[in-house]
Amino acid sequence: MNSKESNNDVKASLKTIRLIISLYICVSTMSCKHEVPQITPATADSTLSDICNSDTVYFKNTIQPLLQTACAYSGCHDAASHEDDVILDTYENIIRSGKVKAGNPDDSKLYKVIVTTDADDIMPPPPNQPLSAAQISTIYTWIMQGAKNNGCLQCDSMSVTYSQTIKPIIESICKTCHNPYMLSGNLILNDYSDVAVIAANGKLTGTITHAPGYVTMPDFADSTKYIGQCQIKQIIKWVNDGYPNN
Ligand code: HEC
Repeated sequence: MNSKESNNDVKASLKTIRLIISLYICVSTMSCKHEVPQITPATADSTLSDICNSDTVYFKNTIQPLLQTACAYSGCHDAASHEDDVILDTYENIIRSGKVKAGNPDDSKLYKVIVTTDADDIMPPPPNQPLSAAQISTIYTWIMQGAKNNGCLQCDSMSVTYSQTIKPIIESICKTCHNPYMLSGNLILNDYSDVAVIAANGKLTGTITHAPGYVTMPDFADSTKYIGQCQIKQIIKWVNDGYPNN
């Protein structure tokens, strides 16, 4: 028997042992493969997208801070002053004011008063600086896009390392099923060398981006809820970098 064959024999018996162990755990805890493991959804705050789309204007990131500095200060549209009964501090108050018609900036008083040339109507009133063309344009786009109470997290997909970025993702999301006891898809994702194998053969990026010909991972009906767009971007970057063990 050559060493390759005996190696395969060892592997096969290891597999059998693992199967026995997982069967034992299955029976002893009465929790088999089909129980959905506890995995935290990709974004802890479900009101925030885990990635900022450059075509979208986000209320929480851009509009709220802008209205806060330009309108919702003392003497104007903060809660205490509420000039004209308009409070522009929170999303709820902005919508309640009735000055925003989602999808229709030209019919929205909030937009009309920042673009008007009428000195009696313009907001913020003189001697305050009028809003810049760029600021006006973001408000226009936000209303146009439905005046949503949306926000996003900046995704750092540049400074990606195995230890700081990839390992935590694999451990929190993938290892739940790909461990010696579950052995889903006959795949263990315990350490760097395991992850490097699926990085090299294309299965890591193929499964998480739902590429044709690959199973969809993580293996949930709604897999995108469990792995975020930012995490996917980070994994792709790491694989393209040659999946370094850094
Ligand atoms: C809920 C359990 C579960 C989770 C979580 C999960 N997987 Fe899987 N995985 C499976 C199952 C089950 C299979 C086998 C699917 C099949 O063959 O149809 C599989 C198969 C795979 C395969 C294919 C193996 C092969 O050789 O073809 C890869 C690659 C994979 N998973 C990667 C991942 C990665 C990466 C993650 C984390 C982002 C992950 N999985 C999370 C259950 C899971």
